[in-house]
Amino acid sequence: MKLYLWLLKFSVFVAAVAAKKDVRRKLTAQLNPGCPENICDDAGNLTNVVHVTSLGASDAIHYIWDLTGKPSALVALCGPDTKLNINWEGFFDGKANTVMFSDAPRYTFGVVLNRLWEYNDEEDVGTFTVTNSSQINAFSLHEFAWERKSFLATEDSVELSVKSRGLHGLPGNFELSLATFATPDHGPMTPHLMHTENSTQIDLVLDTVQTNDSFPQPRFAIEVVLVAMEPKKDNYTVVVKKSLDDEFTPGIFKIVNVASPASVNASSGGYLQYRPVSYTDEDRDVSTSTQTYQSSPATPNNAIKKLNNTVFRSIFGDSVETMLVQSLNVSFGTSGDGFYTKYNYTTWTFVVGYGAPLPDKLSL
Ligand SMILES: *[C@@H]1O[C@H](CO)[C@@H](O)[C@H](O)[C@H]1NC(C)=O
Ligand SMILES: *[C@@H]1O[C@H](CO)[C@@H](O)[C@H](O)[C@H]1NC(C)=O
Ligand SMILES: *[C@@H]1O[C@H](CO)[C@@H](O)[C@H](O)[C@H]1NC(C)=O
Ligand SMILES: *[C@@H]1O[C@H](CO)[C@@H](O)[C@H](O)[C@H]1NC(C)=O
Ligand SMILES: *[C@@H]1O[C@H](CO)[C@@H](O)[C@H](O)[C@H]1NC(C)=O
Ligand SMILES: *[C@@H]1O[C@H](CO)[C@@H](O)[C@H](O)[C@H]1NC(C)=O
Ligand SMILES: *[C@@H]1O[C@H](CO)[C@@H](O)[C@H](O)[C@H]1NC(C)=O
Ligand SMILES: *[C@@H]1O[C@H](CO)[C@@H](O)[C@H](O)[C@H]1NC(C)=O
Ligand SMILES: *[C@@H]1O[C@H](CO)[C@@H](O)[C@H](O)[C@H]1NC(C)=O
Repeated sequence: MKLYLWLLKFSVFVAAVAAKKDVRRKLTAQLNPGCPENICDDAGNLTNVVHVTSLGASDAIHYIWDLTGKPSALVALCGPDTKLNINWEGFFDGKANTVMFSDAPRYTFGVVLNRLWEYNDEEDVGTFTVTNSSQINAFSLHEFAWERKSFLATEDSVELSVKSRGLHGLPGNFELSLATFATPDHGPMTPHLMHTENSTQIDLVLDTVQTNDSFPQPRFAIEVVLVAMEPKKDNYTVVVKKSLDDEFTPGIFKIVNVASPASVNASSGGYLQYRPVSYTDEDRDVSTSTQTYQSSPATPNNAIKKLNNTVFRSIFGDSVETMLVQSLNVSFGTSGDGFYTKYNYTTWTFVVGYGAPLPDKLSL
Protein backbone atom coordinates (compact mmCIF):
# COMPACT_ATOMS: atom_id res chain seq x y z
CA MET A 1 0.00 0.00 0.00
CA LYS A 2 2.74 2.38 1.01
CA LEU A 3 4.74 1.49 -2.07
CA TYR A 4 1.64 2.01 -4.15
CA LEU A 5 1.15 5.47 -2.64
CA TRP A 6 4.79 6.28 -3.12
CA LEU A 7 4.62 5.22 -6.76
CA LEU A 8 1.48 7.26 -7.25
CA LYS A 9 3.08 10.33 -5.74
CA PHE A 10 6.22 9.76 -7.73
CA SER A 11 4.34 9.42 -10.99
CA VAL A 12 2.34 12.57 -10.21
CA PHE A 13 5.63 14.30 -9.54
CA VAL A 14 7.11 13.12 -12.83
CA ALA A 15 3.96 14.12 -14.68
CA ALA A 16 4.01 17.53 -13.02
CA VAL A 17 7.65 18.09 -13.92
CA ALA A 18 6.98 17.02 -17.50
CA ALA A 19 3.87 19.23 -17.63
CA LYS A 20 5.84 22.17 -16.31
CA LYS A 21 8.31 21.89 -19.16
CA ASP A 22 5.52 21.64 -21.69
CA VAL A 23 3.60 24.65 -20.57
CA ARG A 24 6.34 27.13 -19.83
CA ARG A 25 5.43 30.47 -21.36
CA LYS A 26 7.60 33.54 -21.70
CA LEU A 27 6.59 36.70 -19.88
CA THR A 28 7.33 40.29 -20.79
CA ALA A 29 5.85 43.12 -18.77
CA GLN A 30 5.61 46.87 -18.78
CA LEU A 31 4.45 49.31 -16.16
CA ASN A 32 2.36 52.13 -17.65
CA PRO A 33 3.30 51.25 -21.25
CA GLY A 34 3.76 54.27 -23.48
CA CYS A 35 2.61 56.72 -20.84
CA PRO A 36 3.84 60.25 -21.54
CA GLU A 37 5.99 61.80 -18.81
CA ASN A 38 3.61 64.64 -18.17
CA ILE A 39 0.94 62.12 -17.21
CA CYS A 40 2.73 59.29 -15.45
CA ASP A 41 5.80 60.89 -13.89
CA ASP A 42 3.75 63.72 -12.44
CA ALA A 43 1.46 61.26 -10.76
CA GLY A 44 4.38 59.62 -8.93
CA ASN A 45 3.47 56.18 -7.65
CA LEU A 46 -0.27 56.58 -8.20
CA THR A 47 -0.52 55.47 -11.82
CA ASN A 48 -0.36 51.70 -12.02
CA VAL A 49 -1.31 49.92 -15.19
CA VAL A 50 0.63 46.74 -15.87
CA HIS A 51 0.59 44.95 -19.20
CA VAL A 52 1.97 41.41 -19.32
CA THR A 53 2.39 39.38 -22.48
CA SER A 54 2.67 35.67 -21.87
CA LEU A 55 3.89 34.09 -25.05
CA GLY A 56 3.08 30.46 -25.80
CA ALA A 57 3.83 28.30 -28.82
CA SER A 58 1.00 29.55 -31.00
CA ASP A 59 -0.70 32.35 -29.10
CA ALA A 60 -0.18 34.99 -26.45
CA ILE A 61 -2.12 35.62 -23.29
CA HIS A 62 -2.24 39.26 -22.32
CA TYR A 63 -2.92 40.45 -18.79
CA ILE A 64 -3.83 43.99 -17.90
CA TRP A 65 -3.87 45.03 -14.25
CA ASP A 66 -5.41 48.44 -13.84
CA LEU A 67 -5.31 50.16 -10.44
CA THR A 68 -6.23 53.61 -11.70
CA GLY A 69 -9.99 53.09 -11.45
CA LYS A 70 -11.77 50.20 -9.82
CA PRO A 71 -9.05 47.57 -9.32
CA SER A 72 -9.32 45.28 -12.34
CA ALA A 73 -7.51 42.31 -13.81
CA LEU A 74 -8.07 41.17 -17.37
CA VAL A 75 -6.92 38.02 -19.17
CA ALA A 76 -7.12 38.02 -22.97
CA LEU A 77 -6.26 35.19 -25.35
CA CYS A 78 -4.75 36.72 -28.48
CA GLY A 79 -2.73 35.82 -31.54
CA PRO A 80 1.06 35.65 -31.10
CA ASP A 81 1.67 39.06 -32.68
CA THR A 82 -1.03 41.13 -31.04
CA LYS A 83 0.11 44.44 -29.56
CA LEU A 84 -1.51 46.68 -26.98
CA ASN A 85 -1.79 50.41 -27.27
CA ILE A 86 -3.08 52.88 -24.68
CA ASN A 87 -4.23 56.40 -25.48
CA TRP A 88 -3.41 57.75 -22.04
CA GLU A 89 -5.28 61.05 -22.17
CA GLY A 90 -8.49 59.46 -23.34
CA PHE A 91 -7.94 56.62 -20.89
CA PHE A 92 -7.82 59.00 -17.95
CA ASP A 93 -10.93 60.75 -19.24
CA GLY A 94 -12.71 57.40 -19.03
CA LYS A 95 -13.27 57.25 -22.78
CA ALA A 96 -14.12 54.07 -24.65
CA ASN A 97 -11.69 52.43 -27.10
CA THR A 98 -8.66 54.06 -25.47
CA VAL A 99 -7.05 50.72 -24.64
CA MET A 100 -6.70 48.84 -27.92
CA PHE A 101 -5.44 45.46 -29.00
CA SER A 102 -4.08 45.49 -32.56
CA ASP A 103 -6.19 42.39 -33.28
CA ALA A 104 -9.40 41.62 -31.46
CA PRO A 105 -8.79 39.08 -28.67
CA ARG A 106 -10.12 35.57 -29.27
CA TYR A 107 -11.42 35.55 -25.74
CA THR A 108 -11.44 37.92 -22.76
CA PHE A 109 -12.22 37.41 -19.12
CA GLY A 110 -11.61 39.43 -16.01
CA VAL A 111 -12.63 40.69 -12.62
CA VAL A 112 -13.31 44.07 -11.09
CA LEU A 113 -13.19 44.75 -7.35
CA ASN A 114 -16.08 47.16 -7.26
CA ARG A 115 -17.15 47.83 -3.69
CA LEU A 116 -16.12 47.01 -0.16
CA TRP A 117 -18.99 46.37 2.23
CA GLU A 118 -18.67 47.00 5.94
CA TYR A 119 -21.56 45.42 7.82
CA ASN A 120 -22.71 44.86 11.36
CA ASP A 121 -23.20 41.14 11.91
CA GLU A 122 -25.65 41.54 14.82
CA GLU A 123 -26.62 37.86 14.91
CA ASP A 124 -23.05 36.61 14.37
CA VAL A 125 -24.05 34.47 11.41
CA GLY A 126 -20.77 35.03 9.57
CA THR A 127 -22.27 35.20 6.10
CA PHE A 128 -23.23 38.53 4.53
CA THR A 129 -26.99 38.20 4.74
CA VAL A 130 -27.77 41.45 6.56
CA THR A 131 -30.71 43.16 4.91
CA ASN A 132 -31.13 46.23 7.14
CA SER A 133 -29.42 48.89 5.07
CA SER A 134 -28.49 50.95 8.11
CA GLN A 135 -26.24 48.04 9.15
CA ILE A 136 -24.30 48.18 5.87
CA ASN A 137 -21.88 50.81 4.58
CA ALA A 138 -20.65 50.64 0.99
CA PHE A 139 -17.29 52.02 -0.15
CA SER A 140 -16.43 52.31 -3.80
CA LEU A 141 -12.98 50.89 -4.48
CA HIS A 142 -12.77 53.41 -7.29
CA GLU A 143 -12.27 56.11 -4.64
CA PHE A 144 -9.19 54.45 -3.15
CA ALA A 145 -5.83 55.85 -4.24
CA TRP A 146 -3.44 52.96 -4.82
CA GLU A 147 0.27 53.75 -4.38
CA ARG A 148 2.84 51.46 -5.86
CA LYS A 149 4.97 49.59 -3.33
CA SER A 150 6.84 47.40 -5.78
CA PHE A 151 6.92 46.14 -9.35
CA LEU A 152 9.08 43.18 -10.30
CA ALA A 153 9.23 41.61 -13.73
CA THR A 154 11.27 38.68 -15.04
CA GLU A 155 10.66 36.11 -17.77
CA ASP A 156 9.21 33.78 -15.15
CA SER A 157 7.05 36.00 -12.99
CA VAL A 158 5.60 39.49 -12.76
CA GLU A 159 4.41 41.07 -9.54
CA LEU A 160 2.81 44.37 -8.63
CA SER A 161 2.09 45.39 -5.10
CA VAL A 162 0.08 48.49 -4.15
CA LYS A 163 -1.30 50.01 -0.99
CA SER A 164 -3.95 52.51 -0.02
CA ARG A 165 -4.78 54.37 3.15
CA GLY A 166 -8.49 53.97 2.53
CA LEU A 167 -11.12 56.66 2.63
CA HIS A 168 -12.69 59.17 4.92
CA GLY A 169 -14.96 56.98 7.05
CA LEU A 170 -12.74 53.95 6.41
CA PRO A 171 -9.07 54.67 7.07
CA GLY A 172 -6.66 51.75 7.25
CA ASN A 173 -3.93 49.91 5.42
CA PHE A 174 -5.26 48.23 2.31
CA GLU A 175 -2.92 46.16 0.20
CA LEU A 176 -3.31 44.44 -3.12
CA SER A 177 -0.70 42.20 -4.73
CA LEU A 178 -1.05 40.81 -8.23
CA ALA A 179 1.24 38.16 -9.65
CA THR A 180 1.44 36.02 -12.73
CA PHE A 181 3.78 33.14 -13.51
CA ALA A 182 5.21 31.42 -16.57
CA THR A 183 4.56 27.89 -15.29
CA PRO A 184 1.90 26.15 -13.20
CA ASP A 185 2.78 25.81 -9.53
CA HIS A 186 1.64 26.55 -6.00
CA GLY A 187 1.84 30.24 -5.10
CA PRO A 188 4.73 31.24 -2.81
CA MET A 189 2.62 32.59 0.04
CA THR A 190 -0.05 30.89 2.16
CA PRO A 191 -2.69 29.72 1.15
CA HIS A 192 -0.31 28.51 -1.63
CA LEU A 193 -3.05 28.41 -4.26
CA MET A 194 -2.35 26.49 -7.43
CA HIS A 195 -1.99 28.75 -10.43
CA THR A 196 -1.83 27.70 -14.04
CA GLU A 197 0.38 29.25 -16.68
CA ASN A 198 -2.71 31.25 -17.72
CA SER A 199 -3.64 33.00 -14.53
CA THR A 200 -3.08 35.92 -12.20
CA GLN A 201 -3.10 35.58 -8.44
CA ILE A 202 -4.58 38.44 -6.44
CA ASP A 203 -4.04 38.91 -2.72
CA LEU A 204 -5.99 41.45 -0.65
CA VAL A 205 -5.13 42.55 2.89
CA LEU A 206 -7.29 44.74 5.15
CA ASP A 207 -4.95 45.76 7.97
CA THR A 208 -5.92 47.94 10.98
CA VAL A 209 -8.97 49.28 9.25
CA GLN A 210 -10.86 51.62 11.54
CA THR A 211 -14.39 50.26 11.54
CA ASN A 212 -17.48 52.36 12.18
CA ASP A 213 -18.23 52.92 15.89
CA SER A 214 -21.92 52.29 15.32
CA PHE A 215 -21.10 48.74 14.14
CA PRO A 216 -20.01 46.81 17.26
CA GLN A 217 -19.76 43.51 15.35
CA PRO A 218 -18.17 44.56 12.08
CA ARG A 219 -17.23 42.36 9.17
CA PHE A 220 -16.18 43.04 5.60
CA ALA A 221 -17.28 41.70 2.24
CA ILE A 222 -16.24 42.60 -1.28
CA GLU A 223 -18.24 42.87 -4.48
CA VAL A 224 -16.46 41.14 -7.33
CA VAL A 225 -17.70 41.74 -10.86
CA LEU A 226 -16.97 39.02 -13.44
CA VAL A 227 -16.77 39.90 -17.13
CA ALA A 228 -16.50 37.35 -19.94
CA MET A 229 -16.68 37.56 -23.70
CA GLU A 230 -19.52 35.01 -23.77
CA PRO A 231 -23.24 34.98 -24.49
CA LYS A 232 -25.39 36.48 -21.76
CA LYS A 233 -27.85 33.60 -21.61
CA ASP A 234 -25.94 31.51 -19.07
CA ASN A 235 -24.74 32.13 -15.53
CA TYR A 236 -21.38 31.71 -13.86
CA THR A 237 -21.44 28.64 -11.65
CA VAL A 238 -20.03 28.35 -8.16
CA VAL A 239 -18.80 24.92 -7.12
CA VAL A 240 -17.36 24.22 -3.68
CA LYS A 241 -15.24 21.08 -3.80
CA LYS A 242 -13.81 18.94 -1.04
CA SER A 243 -10.09 18.84 -1.51
CA LEU A 244 -7.97 15.74 -1.11
CA ASP A 245 -5.47 17.11 1.30
CA ASP A 246 -4.48 20.29 3.05
CA GLU A 247 -0.71 20.07 2.81
CA PHE A 248 -0.42 23.41 1.06
CA THR A 249 -3.25 25.15 2.90
CA PRO A 250 -3.27 23.71 6.42
CA GLY A 251 -6.70 23.06 7.84
CA ILE A 252 -8.59 24.04 4.70
CA PHE A 253 -10.16 21.11 2.89
CA LYS A 254 -12.28 23.01 0.42
CA ILE A 255 -11.69 24.75 -2.85
CA VAL A 256 -14.08 27.13 -4.58
CA ASN A 257 -14.38 27.42 -8.36
CA VAL A 258 -16.41 30.21 -9.94
CA ALA A 259 -16.45 29.44 -13.64
CA SER A 260 -17.95 30.89 -16.81
CA PRO A 261 -20.09 28.61 -19.00
CA ALA A 262 -17.30 28.17 -21.56
CA SER A 263 -14.86 27.24 -18.79
CA VAL A 264 -17.28 24.64 -17.44
CA ASN A 265 -18.29 23.24 -20.84
CA ALA A 266 -15.12 23.45 -22.85
CA SER A 267 -12.24 24.50 -20.53
CA SER A 268 -11.89 27.59 -22.68
CA GLY A 269 -13.49 30.27 -20.54
CA GLY A 270 -12.67 32.30 -17.47
CA TYR A 271 -12.67 31.34 -13.83
CA LEU A 272 -11.86 32.32 -10.28
CA GLN A 273 -10.39 29.78 -7.89
CA TYR A 274 -9.69 30.11 -4.17
CA ARG A 275 -9.62 28.37 -0.84
CA PRO A 276 -12.44 29.66 1.37
CA VAL A 277 -9.96 31.02 3.91
CA SER A 278 -9.04 34.42 5.28
CA TYR A 279 -6.14 34.99 7.66
CA THR A 280 -6.37 37.23 10.71
CA ASP A 281 -2.63 37.74 11.03
CA GLU A 282 0.38 38.43 8.87
CA ASP A 283 1.58 35.05 10.07
CA ARG A 284 -0.69 32.93 7.92
CA ASP A 285 -1.38 29.62 9.57
CA VAL A 286 -4.19 27.31 10.57
CA SER A 287 -4.41 29.04 13.96
CA THR A 288 -4.94 32.43 12.31
CA SER A 289 -7.46 31.28 9.75
CA THR A 290 -11.14 32.02 9.42
CA GLN A 291 -13.58 31.35 6.60
CA THR A 292 -14.98 33.15 3.59
CA TYR A 293 -18.43 32.81 2.06
CA GLN A 294 -19.77 33.84 -1.31
CA SER A 295 -23.19 34.71 -2.63
CA SER A 296 -24.59 33.35 -5.88
CA PRO A 297 -23.62 35.38 -8.93
CA ALA A 298 -26.31 37.86 -9.96
CA THR A 299 -26.72 40.04 -13.04
CA PRO A 300 -26.41 43.77 -12.37
CA ASN A 301 -29.09 46.12 -13.68
CA ASN A 302 -26.63 48.20 -15.61
CA ALA A 303 -23.41 46.58 -16.80
CA ILE A 304 -22.16 49.81 -18.37
CA LYS A 305 -22.38 51.62 -15.05
CA LYS A 306 -20.87 48.71 -13.12
CA LEU A 307 -17.90 48.69 -15.46
CA ASN A 308 -17.48 52.45 -15.63
CA ASN A 309 -13.90 53.40 -14.70
CA THR A 310 -12.52 50.00 -15.56
CA VAL A 311 -10.24 48.77 -18.31
CA PHE A 312 -13.18 46.78 -19.70
CA ARG A 313 -14.98 49.95 -20.74
CA SER A 314 -11.72 51.47 -21.97
CA ILE A 315 -11.44 48.50 -24.33
CA PHE A 316 -15.00 47.57 -25.20
CA GLY A 317 -16.94 50.77 -24.57
CA ASP A 318 -20.67 50.26 -24.27
CA SER A 319 -20.50 46.81 -25.84
CA VAL A 320 -19.64 45.46 -22.38
CA GLU A 321 -23.42 45.26 -22.27
CA THR A 322 -23.34 42.34 -24.68
CA MET A 323 -20.88 40.42 -22.51
CA LEU A 324 -21.58 38.03 -19.64
CA VAL A 325 -21.36 40.36 -16.63
CA GLN A 326 -22.33 39.16 -13.15
CA SER A 327 -21.27 40.02 -9.64
CA LEU A 328 -20.92 38.17 -6.37
CA ASN A 329 -20.18 39.15 -2.80
CA VAL A 330 -17.42 37.40 -0.90
CA SER A 331 -17.45 37.91 2.86
CA PHE A 332 -14.61 37.39 5.30
CA GLY A 333 -15.06 35.72 8.68
CA THR A 334 -17.29 33.12 10.26
CA SER A 335 -19.65 32.79 13.20
CA GLY A 336 -17.83 32.81 16.53
CA ASP A 337 -14.51 34.21 15.27
CA GLY A 338 -14.85 37.50 17.17
CA PHE A 339 -15.53 39.71 14.12
CA TYR A 340 -13.02 41.90 12.28
CA THR A 341 -12.12 43.88 15.41
CA LYS A 342 -10.76 40.86 17.27
CA TYR A 343 -7.59 41.04 15.14
CA ASN A 344 -8.13 43.98 12.79
CA TYR A 345 -6.64 41.95 9.98
CA THR A 346 -8.23 40.07 7.08
CA THR A 347 -6.92 38.58 3.85
CA TRP A 348 -8.32 37.03 0.73
CA THR A 349 -6.34 35.33 -2.04
CA PHE A 350 -7.74 34.16 -5.36
CA VAL A 351 -6.65 33.19 -8.83
CA VAL A 352 -8.20 34.58 -12.03
CA GLY A 353 -7.48 32.59 -15.14
CA TYR A 354 -8.22 31.40 -18.62
CA GLY A 355 -8.99 27.73 -19.28
CA ALA A 356 -10.46 25.58 -16.54
CA PRO A 357 -9.74 25.69 -12.81
CA LEU A 358 -7.16 23.08 -11.90
CA PRO A 359 -8.44 19.98 -10.22
CA ASP A 360 -7.04 19.49 -6.77
CA LYS A 361 -3.81 17.55 -7.16
CA LEU A 362 -1.96 15.23 -4.85
CA SER A 363 0.86 17.03 -3.17
CA LEU A 364 4.32 16.31 -4.47
C1 LIG B 1 -32.15 48.61 11.27
O1 LIG B 1 -31.06 49.00 12.08
C2 LIG B 1 -31.29 50.22 12.76
C3 LIG B 1 -29.99 50.64 13.43
O2 LIG B 1 -29.49 49.62 14.23
C4 LIG B 1 -32.45 50.02 13.74
O3 LIG B 1 -32.71 51.24 14.43
C5 LIG B 1 -33.69 49.59 12.98
O4 LIG B 1 -34.73 49.29 13.88
C6 LIG B 1 -33.39 48.35 12.14
N1 LIG B 1 -34.52 48.09 11.27
C7 LIG B 1 -35.08 46.89 11.21
C8 LIG B 1 -36.21 46.74 10.25
O5 LIG B 1 -34.69 45.94 11.87
C1 LIG C 1 4.16 57.29 -2.88
O1 LIG C 1 4.72 58.59 -3.05
C2 LIG C 1 4.41 59.48 -1.97
C3 LIG C 1 4.92 60.85 -2.36
O2 LIG C 1 6.20 60.78 -2.89
C4 LIG C 1 5.06 58.94 -0.70
O3 LIG C 1 4.75 59.78 0.39
C5 LIG C 1 4.50 57.54 -0.43
O4 LIG C 1 5.12 56.98 0.70
C6 LIG C 1 4.72 56.62 -1.63
N1 LIG C 1 4.02 55.37 -1.38
C7 LIG C 1 4.63 54.19 -1.38
C8 LIG C 1 3.79 52.99 -1.10
O5 LIG C 1 5.82 54.08 -1.59
C1 LIG D 1 -21.05 55.02 10.52
O1 LIG D 1 -22.15 54.30 9.99
C2 LIG D 1 -23.36 55.00 10.08
C3 LIG D 1 -24.46 54.05 9.63
O2 LIG D 1 -24.30 53.64 8.30
C4 LIG D 1 -23.27 56.25 9.21
O3 LIG D 1 -24.45 56.99 9.30
C5 LIG D 1 -22.08 57.11 9.66
O4 LIG D 1 -21.90 58.18 8.77
C6 LIG D 1 -20.82 56.28 9.70
N1 LIG D 1 -19.72 57.05 10.29
C7 LIG D 1 -18.62 57.39 9.60
C8 LIG D 1 -17.58 58.14 10.36
O5 LIG D 1 -18.47 57.12 8.44
C1 LIG E 1 -9.16 46.85 16.57
O1 LIG E 1 -9.47 48.20 16.33
C2 LIG E 1 -10.50 48.71 17.17
C3 LIG E 1 -10.76 50.14 16.74
O2 LIG E 1 -11.16 50.17 15.39
C4 LIG E 1 -10.08 48.61 18.63
O3 LIG E 1 -11.14 49.00 19.46
C5 LIG E 1 -9.70 47.18 18.94
O4 LIG E 1 -9.21 47.09 20.26
C6 LIG E 1 -8.64 46.69 17.99
N1 LIG E 1 -8.36 45.28 18.24
C7 LIG E 1 -7.13 44.84 18.46
C8 LIG E 1 -6.98 43.38 18.69
O5 LIG E 1 -6.17 45.59 18.50
C1 LIG F 1 -29.39 32.30 -14.18
O1 LIG F 1 -29.72 32.70 -12.85
C2 LIG F 1 -30.99 33.30 -12.76
C3 LIG F 1 -31.17 33.86 -11.37
O2 LIG F 1 -30.59 33.05 -10.41
C4 LIG F 1 -32.06 32.27 -13.12
O3 LIG F 1 -33.33 32.85 -13.05
C5 LIG F 1 -31.79 31.77 -14.54
O4 LIG F 1 -32.69 30.75 -14.86
C6 LIG F 1 -30.37 31.25 -14.67
N1 LIG F 1 -30.10 30.95 -16.07
C7 LIG F 1 -29.66 29.77 -16.49
C8 LIG F 1 -29.43 29.62 -17.96
O5 LIG F 1 -29.41 28.85 -15.71
C1 LIG G 1 -22.98 24.57 -21.55
O1 LIG G 1 -23.69 23.35 -21.35
C2 LIG G 1 -25.03 23.55 -20.92
C3 LIG G 1 -25.61 22.20 -20.59
O2 LIG G 1 -25.13 21.20 -21.41
C4 LIG G 1 -25.79 24.25 -22.04
O3 LIG G 1 -27.10 24.50 -21.61
C5 LIG G 1 -25.13 25.57 -22.34
O4 LIG G 1 -25.75 26.20 -23.42
C6 LIG G 1 -23.64 25.39 -22.64
N1 LIG G 1 -23.02 26.69 -22.73
C7 LIG G 1 -22.06 26.97 -23.60
C8 LIG G 1 -21.47 28.33 -23.50
O5 LIG G 1 -21.67 26.17 -24.43
C1 LIG H 1 -18.65 57.17 -15.31
O1 LIG H 1 -17.82 57.84 -14.40
C2 LIG H 1 -17.65 59.23 -14.68
C3 LIG H 1 -16.70 59.79 -13.63
O2 LIG H 1 -15.53 59.07 -13.58
C4 LIG H 1 -18.99 59.93 -14.62
O3 LIG H 1 -18.82 61.28 -14.99
C5 LIG H 1 -19.95 59.25 -15.61
O4 LIG H 1 -21.24 59.82 -15.48
C6 LIG H 1 -20.04 57.76 -15.30
N1 LIG H 1 -20.87 57.10 -16.32
C7 LIG H 1 -21.79 56.17 -16.03
C8 LIG H 1 -22.53 55.58 -17.18
O5 LIG H 1 -22.03 55.82 -14.88
C1 LIG I 1 -24.10 42.20 -2.45
O1 LIG I 1 -24.51 42.83 -1.26
C2 LIG I 1 -25.30 44.00 -1.46
C3 LIG I 1 -25.58 44.62 -0.10
O2 LIG I 1 -26.26 43.73 0.71
C4 LIG I 1 -26.57 43.64 -2.19
O3 LIG I 1 -27.33 44.80 -2.45
C5 LIG I 1 -26.22 42.96 -3.51
O4 LIG I 1 -27.38 42.53 -4.14
C6 LIG I 1 -25.31 41.78 -3.24
N1 LIG I 1 -24.87 41.22 -4.52
C7 LIG I 1 -25.04 39.95 -4.82
C8 LIG I 1 -24.53 39.53 -6.15
O5 LIG I 1 -25.55 39.13 -4.06
C1 LIG J 1 -3.69 27.84 -21.21
O1 LIG J 1 -4.04 28.49 -22.41
C2 LIG J 1 -3.80 27.70 -23.57
C3 LIG J 1 -4.15 28.57 -24.76
O2 LIG J 1 -3.05 29.37 -25.03
C4 LIG J 1 -4.64 26.45 -23.53
O3 LIG J 1 -4.35 25.66 -24.66
C5 LIG J 1 -4.32 25.68 -22.26
O4 LIG J 1 -5.18 24.57 -22.15
C6 LIG J 1 -4.52 26.57 -21.05
N1 LIG J 1 -4.09 25.86 -19.86
C7 LIG J 1 -4.92 25.59 -18.85
C8 LIG J 1 -4.32 24.86 -17.69
O5 LIG J 1 -6.09 25.91 -18.84
